[in-house]
Amino acid sequence: MGKSGRVRRPSRGSGPCGRPDAAGRESAGGRRGLHAAVMVMPTVSHPSGVRAGDRWRDMEYSALSERFIRFAGEAAGESPLYEVLAREVAEDHQILSLASRARPGQPVPNLLLAAVHDVLLAGADHPLRGFYPDLTPCPAPPRAIAAYLRDFCLQHATALTCRLQTRRVQTNEVQRAAYLYLVFGLIQEEMGLPLSLIEIGCSAGLLLLWDRFRYDYGTGAILGPADGRLTLRAELRGQPPTPPGRAARVAFRVGVDLNVLDVRDAGDLRWLRALVWPEASERRHALDTAVRAFEEHPPRLIEGDGVELLPALIDEVPPGTIPVVFHLHVANQMPASVRERLFEHIRSVGRRRPLVHLYNNVHPERGLYLDVVSSTGAVRRRLGLEDGHGRWFDWLPDRSVTL
Ligand SMILES: C[S@@+](CC[C@H](N)C(=O)[O-])C[C@H]1O[C@@H](n2cnc3c(N)ncnc32)[C@H](O)[C@@H]1O
Repeated sequence: MGKSGRVRRPSRGSGPCGRPDAAGRESAGGRRGLHAAVMVMPTVSHPSGVRAGDRWRDMEYSALSERFIRFAGEAAGESPLYEVLAREVAEDHQILSLASRARPGQPVPNLLLAAVHDVLLAGADHPLRGFYPDLTPCPAPPRAIAAYLRDFCLQHATALTCRLQTRRVQTNEVQRAAYLYLVFGLIQEEMGLPLSLIEIGCSAGLLLLWDRFRYDYGTGAILGPADGRLTLRAELRGQPPTPPGRAARVAFRVGVDLNVLDVRDAGDLRWLRALVWPEASERRHALDTAVRAFEEHPPRLIEGDGVELLPALIDEVPPGTIPVVFHLHVANQMPASVRERLFEHIRSVGRRRPLVHLYNNVHPERGLYLDVVSSTGAVRRRLGLEDGHGRWFDWLPDRSVTL
């Protein structure tokens, strides 16, 4: 572990994928066709003449195809390119077969499209580039993309498979700090103590820099430190609290991730960029500016399971501060048993000392939740509905419930 608790690992460029060459192909394995790169499912003869392996594969492909169609719906309006690409993949058995190599538990459409983007960002020279708004000044309309996508996947099957099997969807969405600024202000006001922040699923740790950014909520005032490099704009809907003039005080901060992305590693930084949708120039700008802030003020990051490490990290929190355990867009990546264990840890620590748990993607009723847990029980408040990319936050009236 490094000086600041940072885990040191060999550069990912020399990891299991090998270092991508200028064309985005992996140095090991060379050029293999899509057929060669995809897994061959075992086939078992069936008395009906239909082979069980074929049927299994058809079922798998149709479920995967559905996921791409759903993703296309989510991308509509925000990324015309990804909407079209996802629909094309949904119809193409060979590309679906490639996508099926993704590591289990990952959102496959996001992972495949990020893998394609990453190979292009690595310099792959292919006409598919001509459709990406971040890679060409005059992108071609995505309508005619199908043949190019298929050809690209054939040419770069090895590089894509490698990313599908070693990378994860770890988008570090800096813009989400726009609601953290308000919520952390609210917690400080209600608890009357400086905050000790523990972020589970911090990815590259950029959200831990939330108090280095400035905020424009359209009220006429720009909040946050005068020397902040990045100003995040966000719309406040519903019944927001009055934004605090200055950021809440932080006494302690640490981030944990199963796989910390190191912004000082060229491969990791490119992967973070690849996860940003091609049309999202503001998100890309926010990412790049936050990375510069990170280089100046790197927070402490630990690689490991945030749920397992939580009790020990809470023990490190200085007295006279309130521990705030937070995780945004993480719990949906945890198996149910891990989520249950997380809530158990929170309850058991709460019996010893009060703490705050801030999270989303747990309860069936969508939204950002704030649980204040102490020896006398827990109070839960559904703060509001958040835009996935943090561009707006719809504040709900306070209907706290005692658990
Ligand atoms: C979609 S990213 C979100 C990153 C960050 N929270 C944000 O909002 O920008 C989800 C992250 O959670 C991490 N993760 C999932 N389960 C975890 C666990 N049990 N412990 C630590 N990190 C975890 C993943 O590795 C990934 O980096």
